Amino acid sequence: MMRESSPRPEEAAPARDIEIITRSPEQTEALGEKLAKYLKAGTVVALRGTLGTGKTCLAKGIARGLGVKETVTSPTYTIICEYEGTLPFYHIDAYRLSGDGEFEALGAGELLYGEGVTVIEWSERVPLSVPPEAWVIELSLLDEGGRKIRVRAADPALGRDMEL
Ligand SMILES: Nc1ncnc2c1ncn2[C@@H]1O[C@H](COP(=O)(O)OP(=O)(O)O)[C@@H](O)[C@H]1O
Ligand SMILES: [Mg+2]
Repeated sequence: MMRESSPRPEEAAPARDIEIITRSPEQTEALGEKLAKYLKAGTVVALRGTLGTGKTCLAKGIARGLGVKETVTSPTYTIICEYEGTLPFYHIDAYRLSGDGEFEALGAGELLYGEGVTVIEWSERVPLSVPPEAWVIELSLLDEGGRKIRVRAADPALGRDMEL
């Protein structure tokens, strides 16, 4: 039986839930760059959203924010791309994976617990591999052409300077 006084994880680390509208690819990338300032070694960012919603674009911005100088391309075919920034940056695309088993077999699971920042596109395809403390970012298309980007993360400082 759960006691009233037992601290719940969400109380220990209050989740922030913010929603940003971007109106261009440049704004999506700029948002990624801003979010990167809050990422620490070992943070996993789970990107959800169908094809063309801007996941790779956001990941490019995150990479730039982490000081990655190399050109970041979509990892759809390579599955895992590794870059060197102020922290190691691992960019994974789960689109072509059959599920969590294949993700683990590729060694992707181990990266998540290393010293880098990991961004996973199509994270909904590998739900069991996404750590519970991961940031969750949901991207969706707006009728008028922009993107709605919802960010949930257990960082109380997040969201104070997200104006684009
Ligand atoms: N806010 C936005 N408004 C319009 N187009 C955008 C926006 N953000 C990203 N895009 C564009 O959407 C397209 C798909 O982006 P991409 O990052 O490849 O999507 P995904 O990785 O989710 O499939 C790209 O051409 C990108 O430049
Ligand atoms: Mg992509």
